[in-house]
Amino acid sequence: MSWLIQHDVMAGRRRLNFSDWTDYASDPETAAQKLRKVAKAVTDGNMAPRYYQMLRPRARVTSEEGALITRWAADEARRVSSQQSDGKEASR
Ligand code: HEM
Repeated sequence: MSWLIQHDVMAGRRRLNFSDWTDYASDPETAAQKLRKVAKAVTDGNMAPRYYQMLRPRARVTSEEGALITRWAADEARRVSSQQSDGKEASR
């Protein structure tokens, strides 16, 4: 991995690392905020970074995949933040 990619991957993981997701079980508002950022970053075309998708064709996010990710993230953000307000599992 080049130093540029390595730097970006580390910086990205500091901001959003799904491996740490269970840490947010007790902090649904942070989880919901991260999910809203996923939806926005993918909708705006900022994530995954274009240069990275060019270098790694298998990391390419098609427009169908982008739409799925965005819808999932937005739905999940609503579900997670409704858990906080009423303390119960939201119906889907
Ligand atoms: C589809 C895959 C990806 C998604 C959904 C995604 C999503 C996000 C989100 C939501 C943030 C903002 C987090 C926050 O502010 O709390 C972020 C930041 C960032 N991501 Fe990604 N990311 C993806 C792939 C990547 C890849 C492959 C790289 C590196 C090659 C990367 C590098 C970064 C960096 C450097 C930041 C920090 C930007 C800054 O603080 O200015 N991301 N990403």
